[in-house]
Amino acid sequence: MTALRSAVATPAAPQVLDRCRELVRPALEEAVGRLHPWTGEMAAYSFGWCEVGGAPAAAPGGKGVRQALAVLGAEAAGAPERAGVTAAVAVELVHTFSLLHDDIMDGDPTRRRRPTVWKAYGTGPAVLAGDALFALAVETLAAAPGGPGGIRLLSAALADLVRGQADDLLFTARPWTGPERVDPDEYRTMAEQKTGALLGCAAALGAVLGGASPATVAALDRAGRRLGVAFQLVDDVLGIWGDPEVTGKPVHGDLRERKKTFPVLAALASPCHDAPRLARLLESGRDPGTAAALVEAAGGRRAALAEARRQLAGVESALSGVPLAAGPVDELRTLLEFLVRREL
Ligand code: IPE
Ligand code: IPE
Ligand code: MG
Ligand code: MG
Repeated sequence: MTALRSAVATPAAPQVLDRCRELVRPALEEAVGRLHPWTGEMAAYSFGWCEVGGAPAAAPGGKGVRQALAVLGAEAAGAPERAGVTAAVAVELVHTFSLLHDDIMDGDPTRRRRPTVWKAYGTGPAVLAGDALFALAVETLAAAPGGPGGIRLLSAALADLVRGQADDLLFTARPWTGPERVDPDEYRTMAEQKTGALLGCAAALGAVLGGASPATVAALDRAGRRLGVAFQLVDDVLGIWGDPEVTGKPVHGDLRERKKTFPVLAALASPCHDAPRLARLLESGRDPGTAAALVEAAGGRRAALAEARRQLAGVESALSGVPLAAGPVDELRTLLEFLVRREL
């Protein structure tokens, strides 16, 4: 683990994440403050603002990638600051909603270095808090100038996210090898839907609210979707080789849950190793440490990171097709580089 970590030095989180978090926080707090006190507490717990029971806290609340994309996308498109902040609030609420429900679906006990909301408050309450966050996101957009266009974009992204989550779950019942196995294109579609759709929406939503041209909105959406696939590939890598102290999430959960992550699919497709043995080990769900070592030896980790780099090239080509403000695009590039090299 240590050797792996030091081989790939992670740059410090770029300042743009802090800048955007500070810009967005008052509006996010104001929105969360409108929730029922119980669902509001679960939301605040998830953002790291309080402990279970409501006592104030300053716990890790997530990287804030989607809110930063919303702010930068709006700035790049020349939209007013208000549009970027409203978009950022909406996408962070939806992201948190998706995490609350995802942790139940995946059975994961920890996130952001703390017990997940369903572990801390119970499954029913966590489902309800997720629902409340979703409704709050829609209400936030509905009240904003340009709201109807924003709601259309967000609902389309959510429909994709749900499709992607459906495939992510269904893939666990598919075989590891043979004609019914999950192929890399199916994986890419699933990842673009479950993760890329919301990142694309984040990048484009502020531009929509600010009245940017359809070509600009489409380019930002496409860039965010490509970034989302890269982001998910890195998430897959961290789910196998990450340090849970740093990621704040359990390690090997994907292997135990028989998730068809890209490193595993790439390892099974590699010609230079014993695929049947790896498939048997993966199917048993036992000894994820050995499975991780075999996936690494078969080049699965390297293949996933190379694929993430390819997806970033797609981000660049999407951004280069439309006129965007140079400063925010430079900040976006710093963010992209951090996101493919991150350890959290
Ligand atoms: C986790 O997203 C869910 C995925 C789509 C992979 P993040 O890694 O952005 O989670 P936080 O918000 O930083 O905790
Ligand atoms: C999360 O995917 C996607 C959504 C929440 C929609 P994962 O299940 O792969 O993400 P983590 O690893 O739990 O954050
Ligand atoms: Mg999960
Ligand atoms: Mg999941």
